[in-house]
Amino acid sequence: MSLFIGVDVGGTKVLAAAVSTSGRLVRTARRETPDRNEDPMVVEDALTDAVHAVAGSRRVDGVGIAAAGFVDAAGERVMFAPHLPFRGEEVRARLMERWDTTVMLDNDANCTARAEVTYGAARGATDAVVITLGTGIGGAVVIGGRVHRGRNGMAGEFGHMQVVPQGRACECGGVGCWEQYCSGNALARAARARLGEAPTLLEQACDGDPDLLTGPMVTSAAEQGDQLALAAFEEIGSWLGVGTANLVAAFDPDVVVVGGGVCDAGDLLLGPARHALSTSLVGVGHRVVPPVLRATLGPSAGAVGAASMVRIAVQDHPRVF
Ligand code: BGC
Ligand code: NA
Ligand code: ZN
Repeated sequence: MSLFIGVDVGGTKVLAAAVSTSGRLVRTARRETPDRNEDPMVVEDALTDAVHAVAGSRRVDGVGIAAAGFVDAAGERVMFAPHLPFRGEEVRARLMERWDTTVMLDNDANCTARAEVTYGAARGATDAVVITLGTGIGGAVVIGGRVHRGRNGMAGEFGHMQVVPQGRACECGGVGCWEQYCSGNALARAARARLGEAPTLLEQACDGDPDLLTGPMVTSAAEQGDQLALAAFEEIGSWLGVGTANLVAAFDPDVVVVGGGVCDAGDLLLGPARHALSTSLVGVGHRVVPPVLRATLGPSAGAVGAASMVRIAVQDHPRVF
């Protein structure tokens, strides 16, 4: 039995998973992502630790890495990453040597797109827009069934499209980026800003310390009908819908798929997004509006897509690697 592992390296956590041929998670290991001011090697140590935890004593046939950053066109280096310390790092070659196995590297949202096209909500679609909401916003454009990479390999960086001139500062160095208004971090921020406006479960969830408020806390409160948490989702969901309308105007896809940690909230997020899409998309009434669907593989889609990327690479070119 062959063993292919996918590793999703996000802004807050690392998820390593052994993934079956049919895209099922067989074993998983999670680690915290080291701070973005750490040495890149510390991140690679965390990946190594997670991969070893999943592999145990078994031989690994290949590891796919889904990195929250700008991966070059060759799939060799992470050139830049707002939430990770990678700056032009030769991640693929270094980890191939360290792990003594085939390693493939791509952007995390691109890996989510691969998984959703192969096994999930974008199966059968020709063109799709994939948006992941986690620490930031990741994006992928699927054209003719394939992820479109662009000149630098950096197509689909939707999170850093400017939506508010002179807006909030972003970890990328820019201002007013979409991910500052619509992401897991933005969800926590939106809830935090409302504390005190009304009684809420969130006071207790964060032990009275607003700084400790996280996206998952807001999701769980909203699921229990908490009005303040629901208002935060309304805000984030509307931003999602407005941005989606722009992407649909640009790409006219068959489907829009939303993944990443925040997609766990399902319709709490997608309801307001669909509404905002239907009111801001150009030409509504004269066109088919694409469905906005939760990623079938949920927040694990990145790891699944990364594993399937390396499985295909090894099976197609066993001797090249
Ligand atoms: C990064 C993307 C990444 C996304 C989600 C963004 O800030 O620029 O490369 O896909 O976060 O992790
Ligand atoms: Na991308
Ligand atoms: Zn930015």
